[in-house]
Amino acid sequence: MDSVRVPPTEAVGGTVHLPADKSITHRALLLAAVSDRPVTISGPLDSDDTQATLTAVVRCGASAQGDLGDAVVVRGRGLRGLRPPPALDCANAGTLMRLVPGLLVGQGGDFCVLDGDDSLRSRPMDRVARPLRAMGANVFTAPGGTPPLVVDGTAPLRGTVHDLPVASAQVKSCLLLAGLFAEGETWVREPAASRDHTERMLAAAGVEVLRDDGAVGVRGPVDAVVLPDLAVPRDFSAAAPLLVAGVLRGDPGVCLPEVNLNPLRTGLLAVLERMGADVRVEPGPDVGGEPSGTLRAARGPTLHATEVAPEEVPALIDELPLVGLLGAFAAGRTVVRGAEELRVKESDRIATVVGALRALGAEAVERDDGFEVVGGGRLTGGEAAAAGDHRLAMLAAVAGAASDGGVTVHGFEAVGASYPRFGADLAAIGVGVDG
Ligand code: S3P
Repeated sequence: MDSVRVPPTEAVGGTVHLPADKSITHRALLLAAVSDRPVTISGPLDSDDTQATLTAVVRCGASAQGDLGDAVVVRGRGLRGLRPPPALDCANAGTLMRLVPGLLVGQGGDFCVLDGDDSLRSRPMDRVARPLRAMGANVFTAPGGTPPLVVDGTAPLRGTVHDLPVASAQVKSCLLLAGLFAEGETWVREPAASRDHTERMLAAAGVEVLRDDGAVGVRGPVDAVVLPDLAVPRDFSAAAPLLVAGVLRGDPGVCLPEVNLNPLRTGLLAVLERMGADVRVEPGPDVGGEPSGTLRAARGPTLHATEVAPEEVPALIDELPLVGLLGAFAAGRTVVRGAEELRVKESDRIATVVGALRALGAEAVERDDGFEVVGGGRLTGGEAAAAGDHRLAMLAAVAGAASDGGVTVHGFEAVGASYPRFGADLAAIGVGVDG
């Protein structure tokens, strides 16, 4: 396990060209694997999670040339031509394990067992297995609804209306993919809108995406998907920790060009605005069918505490840990509610975020569905464990830069899931990362 020490940093500044979007890279690789034409994906994310997806599509019979991080040309097998192996390793990638069954149920092949690392093995997969079974598919989990997930592609599928109990782009995406093979219409309704990268990419690939009163659907069976070549925009979730470093210690501040600004991802910007942070957004041209632009953040006046309401949660689900960190520096009580989903992420992020913030000197408490942080305007620093969770490792490192005494982050290598260059990019804006 790698430990790094991040000392306090007074002045953070510089421009960072962030890594590509993880969610969009997973989707581009999966849809290219079933596309009727070779697809050039420019600038896909090179990380542990997306490597797992590239390996999975190749093991299912697609061919891929080039490198993640540069460009990959995927030659797919057509919508029904994948040949899944008996077992696929999803490593730590929840997005892979939840999206790929939506394709495998339509391939007509034998059973495929999807498994992953210890963290993935603890995450709920019945949320895709149950609705897929409602469509007629043969999909099974271990007792308790966790991996391994067993999927076969032989059963005929029927279009189904799904009412999701919690908003989830992974579940919605899986069901829309399965809907491509089903007889009739498949609809997904969520309690609040989640990220729509799959819908955008399906539409670009020639699939008619149906919409009705907040629900989204497809009409199957679809003959073919023809994904055009695409460039992957930079990841807002990778921008977030650097944006927060800029807000807390930016002098002259950070500049983050060409970031994906899909409004269903950028909920953190509204929260930062309410807190009084000095963050500017300069819209730019669309990239890969998604809005993008430049973000700038500098240290401003003292932040105000804020409340994140349940309906805001899906648009900043992966950034909520950073809201906890911001809360430690804000005047008043910062409250996050309606975010019980955090308990089933790469770690139990309610417990791990509160635990890390408290270990670093903040006053923070867990709630069943979120957390509360009483801002003291500063953090003492100390030691924090990443708990195998990339978002927690990044939070702890930024906390180190903003703290009085620095932070030792144990298990820093977890950043590799989404942002392997994170340490180098922190150094580029003046934050020391020793170890
Ligand atoms: C993702 C959706 C979100 C998010 C995850 C990536 C995606 O998960 O937390 O990091 O790529 O669709 P849920 O669908 O479980 O909310």
